[in-house]
Amino acid sequence: MPEIKFYSGDDIPLELHKVRIVQKLDLVPVERRAEAMMEAGFNTFLLKNKDIFLDMLTDSGVNAMSDRQLAAMMVADDSYAGSATFTRLTDKLKEIFDTDYFLPAHQGRAAENIIAMTFVKEGSIIPMNYHFTTTKAHITRLGGSVEELVIDEGIRLTSTHPFKGNFDLDKLEALFEKSGDKIPFVRIETGTNLIGGQPVSLENMEAVADIVHRHGKLVVMDASLLQDNLYFIKTREEKAKDLTLREITRRISKKMDIIYFSARKLGFARGGGIAIHDKELYLKMRELVPMFEGFLTYGGMSVREMEAMAVGLDETMDMDVVSQGPLFIKYMTDELLKLGVPVVTPAGGLGCHLDASGFLPHVRQEEYPAGALAAAVYIAGGIRGMERGTISEQREVDGSEHLASVELLRLALPRRVFTLSQVKYAVDRIKWLYDHRDLVGGLRFVEEPSSLRFFFGRLEPVSNWPDKLVEAFRKDFKDSL
Ligand code: F0G
Repeated sequence: MPEIKFYSGDDIPLELHKVRIVQKLDLVPVERRAEAMMEAGFNTFLLKNKDIFLDMLTDSGVNAMSDRQLAAMMVADDSYAGSATFTRLTDKLKEIFDTDYFLPAHQGRAAENIIAMTFVKEGSIIPMNYHFTTTKAHITRLGGSVEELVIDEGIRLTSTHPFKGNFDLDKLEALFEKSGDKIPFVRIETGTNLIGGQPVSLENMEAVADIVHRHGKLVVMDASLLQDNLYFIKTREEKAKDLTLREITRRISKKMDIIYFSARKLGFARGGGIAIHDKELYLKMRELVPMFEGFLTYGGMSVREMEAMAVGLDETMDMDVVSQGPLFIKYMTDELLKLGVPVVTPAGGLGCHLDASGFLPHVRQEEYPAGALAAAVYIAGGIRGMERGTISEQREVDGSEHLASVELLRLALPRRVFTLSQVKYAVDRIKWLYDHRDLVGGLRFVEEPSSLRFFFGRLEPVSNWPDKLVEAFRKDFKDSL
């Protein structure tokens, strides 16, 4: 990808696309934002879109689609069985991953359900660089447990390590020595979500696969965030700098037994699935698709989305397309750093991640600093982020709180959705909040579901801090929104 430099020397990401469809946004006044937060039980998942200005909750299913994707949707072949769309998608996956078999699933967690039901049983141990919420829930539901083997640097919030999602290979070897018989597969999560969208290097993936195969076990790759990870391999890894994205993808895929993904992320559409090299493995999982998803040639997805996914996967092999997310995230992260706001470094994929423990050091982990920061950022700017800290964890079996190893507020940058001035606005309001951080207090649960509590749980502030925040905002911004 040739780099475009500004004459002025400015280091800002330049969009290599133009906008052709827009959605109008409203920014409601700060008083309404505080009220809306209260109505949502201090859980950003429960906010209504009409109250949101910049929706940075996630990149899942909300990336902007291309003209080619929309055009492909018009030629989708709708039929219960034997759809030509399914053949096109399978062919595209074969072209990209060189996999012969594909099992469709309605989204990433459905693929996780199929894999877990096939391989996880009571007492199983699933090693992985880091867990993802839905992944862990499927494994523990079946009596298995997760072992996180990310390098120590992975959970250090500020670092210069280019691949913070890497496995600690010694820990992996040691775990095989100790409990190898309990391990059915090892999961590699590309673009490691919960530690800030941090990538895994090509070298590390290959080394992990070699260890796992030497022990006769399977390697499963969660490729949901592969597009960002590919960008980082290409730009940060010496041994990959002369390889094309297609070549890197093939190199990775060759070492994997099973590749699953959320196509709400990878492929910029909505859906998911499992790509497999080996026929026997495919047959082992196949039955579960018609049982839980839909017939084998659509798996619960709309064929339109499948067409869009095939094109989206193709576009993922283009650096101009996959660089947009990481470059915008780097811009936002760097701007916040310049202002002294604590953020996860180096900038990763998916979004800009605020370090909630550094932002709100006075809020104890038991009072959910990342959840409190999510609420405060929304009140300060109508910006919706996602708590990625203790609220996103599950309680231990004995009911005690499982404190997260990192307390983050994720501000996702869905690809090609926000403009640079919107990003600048977000930076501005976050800086304002940082200067008023002493006003922000903690949260406590009022309704707490036993599993995946971050989706529906309702909380309340431990004091009247939201009112104080609104008051300070009014003082500084007068009649501005
Ligand atoms: N794996 C990873 C790494 C993910 O980031 C996600 C979803 C899934 C699996 C599950 O996929 O949502 O299609 O069922 N992440 C979303 C997010 C929810 O906002 O980060 P899904």
